[in-house]
Amino acid sequence: MEDDSSDNKTILVTGANGQLGRAFQVLEKQYSSYNFLLISKEELSITDENAVNDFLKKNQIHVCINCAAYTAVDKAEIEQETAIAVNATAVGILARSCKIYHSKFIHISTDYVFDGKGIKPYTENDLTNPVNFYGQTKLNGEQIALQENEEIIIIRTAWVYSSFGNNFVKTMLRLMKERESIGVVSDQYGCPTYAADLAEVIMKIIESNNFVAGIYHYSNKGKISWYDFAKEIATQINSKCVVNPITTSQFPTPAARPSYSVLDTTKIAHTFNLDIPEWKGSLQKCLTLLQ
Ligand SMILES: NC(=O)c1ccc[n+]([C@@H]2O[C@H](COP(=O)([O-])OP(=O)(O)OC[C@H]3O[C@@H](n4cnc5c(N)ncnc54)[C@H](OP(=O)(O)O)[C@@H]3O)[C@@H](O)[C@H]2O)c1
Repeated sequence: MEDDSSDNKTILVTGANGQLGRAFQVLEKQYSSYNFLLISKEELSITDENAVNDFLKKNQIHVCINCAAYTAVDKAEIEQETAIAVNATAVGILARSCKIYHSKFIHISTDYVFDGKGIKPYTENDLTNPVNFYGQTKLNGEQIALQENEEIIIIRTAWVYSSFGNNFVKTMLRLMKERESIGVVSDQYGCPTYAADLAEVIMKIIESNNFVAGIYHYSNKGKISWYDFAKEIATQINSKCVVNPITTSQFPTPAARPSYSVLDTTKIAHTFNLDIPEWKGSLQKCLTLLQ
């Protein structure tokens, strides 16, 4: 019979210095019955197959959570080899190694697997069709991982922000201090994800002992544009900076973005009995930490 107690179970978090990885560094204290191995790129590169296999063989990992990724969406158009190695090939390496060494595998993917031509929240069954190279590599990562190991959980998330690293919220805070007005894209819709909420959900999945393999969508609740997001940040911090709506064509970027990427989170909420927080409340929590 499987031992359901969490005592001494080891959780490996790869890419532990990224936004989501650092959210696990915070959660580690709340889940003290687990043994967390929070491993940075410098300690273990997921592209190094021998190192990954050695690590999993040595450490008896209960669950491996892959927070490592190449996330520079615009740079990925140029640094294609690295983006493929980290977001696609290495995900296959981890999935295979987890199968060999009997570890559960939870991988994080993205709303950018969709082309953004939808008009209602994307479900896990909707057709993928990335519009940029980063999205293509993340989709390839999902596919390779599932070929290697069907018994895995893939969580597609979107618009991730946190009090750590670089993200939209931190950029807006800086610009709102520096400038009297800013223009923010108002014709791309999605929903933000507070990294701390996503990390908490992943821990609930692990704690539930109900590891239902498959693809899931997770973001906070809501549908907004980047402009709406910036306006709410300005409101919550009482900024006098004027936020003006602009169009995607007024803010060209090397990589195209889907114009609509709201994720339908029904499946993850039902399967794991989750109450998903609404985006404004989570933003408030993050801003409290940042100010
Ligand atoms: N950020 C978003 O808006 C967003 C949206 C949708 C989905 N996601 C997905 O959510 C997950 C977490 O994203 P995040 O925002 O936490 O990303 P992040 O802050 O960029 O963190 C990714 C981490 O992975 C590390 N890394 C890169 N190459 C590695 C390698 N070969 N081996 C081990 N670690 C490596 C990075 O280190 P260096 O920084 O030193 O390279 C970084 O610490 C990713 O799968 C991402 O694709 C993110």
